[in-house]
Amino acid sequence: MSNLPVIIQGGMGVGVSNWRLAQAVSRLGQLGVVSGTALDQIMVRRLQDGDIGGHMRRAFDQFPFRRMAERIWEKYFIPGGKAESQSYPTIPMHTKDGPPETRELCILSNFVEVFLAREGHSNPVGINYLEKIQTPHLASIYGAMLAGVGYVLMGAGIPMRIPAVLDHYVQHEPASYPLYVAGAKEGDDTTMSFDPREHMEGEAGPLQRPVFLPIIASNTLALTMVKKANGRVDGFVIEGPTAGGHNAPPRGKLQLNEAGEPQYGERDVVDLAKMRELGLPFWLAGSYGSPERLKEALAEGAAGIQVGTAFAFTEESGLREDYKRTVLEQAKEGKARVFTDRLVSPSGFPFKVAQVKGTISEAEVFQARPRICDLGYLREAYRTPEGTVDFRCPSEPVTVYVAKGGKVEETEGRACICNALMATAGHPQVRNAKRVESGIITSGDAIGEVAEFLPEGGSSYTAADVVGRLLNG
Ligand SMILES: Cc1cc2nc3c(=O)[nH]c(=O)nc-3n(C[C@H](O)[C@H](O)[C@H](O)COP(=O)(O)O)c2cc1C
Repeated sequence: MSNLPVIIQGGMGVGVSNWRLAQAVSRLGQLGVVSGTALDQIMVRRLQDGDIGGHMRRAFDQFPFRRMAERIWEKYFIPGGKAESQSYPTIPMHTKDGPPETRELCILSNFVEVFLAREGHSNPVGINYLEKIQTPHLASIYGAMLAGVGYVLMGAGIPMRIPAVLDHYVQHEPASYPLYVAGAKEGDDTTMSFDPREHMEGEAGPLQRPVFLPIIASNTLALTMVKKANGRVDGFVIEGPTAGGHNAPPRGKLQLNEAGEPQYGERDVVDLAKMRELGLPFWLAGSYGSPERLKEALAEGAAGIQVGTAFAFTEESGLREDYKRTVLEQAKEGKARVFTDRLVSPSGFPFKVAQVKGTISEAEVFQARPRICDLGYLREAYRTPEGTVDFRCPSEPVTVYVAKGGKVEETEGRACICNALMATAGHPQVRNAKRVESGIITSGDAIGEVAEFLPEGGSSYTAADVVGRLLNG
């Protein structure tokens, strides 16, 4: 834990903080973080698009399990890329302990993303996961560690049982993780397990144990993590409710403003004196992307800041070019807006949505989409009447969700952000050769400030512009 970064470039899924952005930030001596969310899908779609630039191939060639790499390459790579009207293949959804192909895709895709982000420099790179998306954890973390990931950051849940997973993988030992199963009864088997040796194709040396930073929104949770996690916690990112992506729900009774956004109050403010008492490094996140706020964070005893929004609209990020341009134009004109939508994400967490034409932030675009659930990352595990584990998502067809025991009121206002975020990352699914999935853009409340990173007269900016401005004003 020497040489702590002052700036952590926040993990941004799906595919927004890709290897290119993380590499650029880490090269500058700060911490670049790739998003670990749905990397299996991202990788398959890059292969289907013809592996533009040959980066996937370069990373596949360095993957230690050769047969696995070639099997996946053969199955998904399309030389020259798929036709625009062709659909991407549907890969099997994650289940409690499989299926094996999905696990292999996770190991390999997490390796690939971290490998590429680490290429050409020797600074650490991190990976970010959402605790709530539990089923891919075990295979994904192993793949990232195979590529030498330096930091694992995890938010959107309480990642109490991640430290031991990291510890076990150092020697390629089996690891387990509890799956939250709605309605589970005592005695039900809800533990997911993963044995690296079932996938290894020979002996391998020990792996580096990454630094583990939970992303939290309360000092009580920080204390609980320190006391009760099943291994070492190395520090914290403290994220406030103005940050981009998913936010922790407000504490206490839900109050909405006139526009229908959740209201945060005193109880949601993290007590930094209590954080300092813990004696672990912490980084502050949520509208900290300015030189003044960085100074403020350091004065509060933080090791630094985690910044997302400013990096999301850089040249290097994986956000679709047309979306980036539109938001930068809006910001320049003082018209960029974000709505904190408490319903749109099937996860049940508030999700910040930038108001941009043509995305599902528009009611017509939202309503025009038939409910289809074919990616399934945000599905909830539940106990069936037969005692088995199945999965449901409040944004799948309502009748299907209700038939699985879900409550109809839960389906209201939910969007398939899995498909929308894939579209935002530049890989929209095409249905029946004509209907193309629309995207959704998430951003922090600081969306209006992104224009400040534009060089004089310029229409785009880079990760180096962000880091330079944050450090030097
Ligand atoms: C486009 C975007 C996507 C994000 N996705 C994730 C994510 O997948 N997981 C996560 O833990 N945080 C996510 N975040 C939050 C960032 O990692 C970071 O904590 C946050 O952006 C900091 O606040 P700021 O937006 O005010 O800079 C996302 C933020 C943005 C802007």
